[in-house]
Amino acid sequence: MLFQNALIENSTAPACIRVEDGTFTAIRPDLSPNPGEEVIDLGGKLVLPPFIESHVHLDTCLTAGDPVWNRSGTLFEGIECWSKRKEKLSRQDIRDRVNRAVRLYAAHGVQHIRTHVDVTGPSLAAMEAMVELREELKGTMDLQIVAFPQEGILSYPNGRQLMIDAVKLGADAVGAIPHFEFTREYSVESLNFALELAAKEDKLVDVHCDEIDDGASRGLETVAARALELGLYDKVTASHTTAMHSYNNAYVVRLMRLLKMSKINFVSNPLVNTHLQGRMDTYPKRRGVTRVKELTEAGINVSFGHDDIFDPWYPMGTGSLRDVVFMGLHVCQMMGYEEIMDSYKFISSNAARTLHLGERYGIGAGRPASFIVLDSKNWYDALNSNAAVLYSYKNGRKIAEGVPGTSKILF
Ligand code: FE2
Repeated sequence: MLFQNALIENSTAPACIRVEDGTFTAIRPDLSPNPGEEVIDLGGKLVLPPFIESHVHLDTCLTAGDPVWNRSGTLFEGIECWSKRKEKLSRQDIRDRVNRAVRLYAAHGVQHIRTHVDVTGPSLAAMEAMVELREELKGTMDLQIVAFPQEGILSYPNGRQLMIDAVKLGADAVGAIPHFEFTREYSVESLNFALELAAKEDKLVDVHCDEIDDGASRGLETVAARALELGLYDKVTASHTTAMHSYNNAYVVRLMRLLKMSKINFVSNPLVNTHLQGRMDTYPKRRGVTRVKELTEAGINVSFGHDDIFDPWYPMGTGSLRDVVFMGLHVCQMMGYEEIMDSYKFISSNAARTLHLGERYGIGAGRPASFIVLDSKNWYDALNSNAAVLYSYKNGRKIAEGVPGTSKILF
């Protein structure tokens, strides 16, 4: 199969892409069709590597208002609503909602998802269902699963054993939630436990880290120090880190040295953090998003996630990572021309580093032929016009297609 007239990753020079047996075999300005080869003219449209969701909770998605709405809109009422919804959680319920959610994502050009799965419940049914779905969806929507202790590791009955069991069941990564533990001591101990478990079992780590507006919440330094000392480095990700928004600058300068040495990744969730943080403030109200601009400028890897889709914590969302980037650039004040042009990397190559996709990802000869085509000539315009994803190819197979948004002007 030969794709012609592709503008790859903001290039202005059209290229040809040859795909054989699900793999990119050549990418050059001039490729002539082989006898009998199917040719697709992309007409000068933007081609990007597929989008990657680096932080979402698929087990909670599509449950907003069931059984009760989160009326205050706070994170803590969200946790209360979820503990009510958890009571009627079943394998079939999770399977139905995840299958709907991954199709929403597919329509928006997403092909990889890292999902957190709550393991603090009466059973590990959600984890079992997600492991099953990971197998079924393989090659169409690749799932990576984080064992996530929503109600704490040390502050929840049998929390440590639940994490060990979740890893045995097949979690790809170990989570933690230090800011939700009862005490600072528990917070540090929970992180030591989580990172040591990951090191022992050769798993990745993704911590819900300091998702609070308390500038004294300093799980991040423990995560980074343990990542360095245990040699886990970029296998470790700190998600949210919203307290960093409220740290004093002198502390951040000191912390940055450790963050760079540790090589850990960051995931920011601008839609949900803007919605949930700053809730205890009157005015001025903090934005509550981590220091994406400063981390990026320091060469630290940051990706963006949706976090929640229509659930007790966030009553909106369609699986569009473009919306996440759009909000992120506003709230992080990253509207320079190059910042806008490069911002697709928050939901593509940066996220691929976080997920450790390696050679399985990216547009290049020898890699799996996975890419998306947007109805635009570059990412700036695609972002600004909310361009449709015209095609999504995964391993050489078309898994989704869209049509350009059109309006008829009547004056
Ligand atoms: Fe989250």
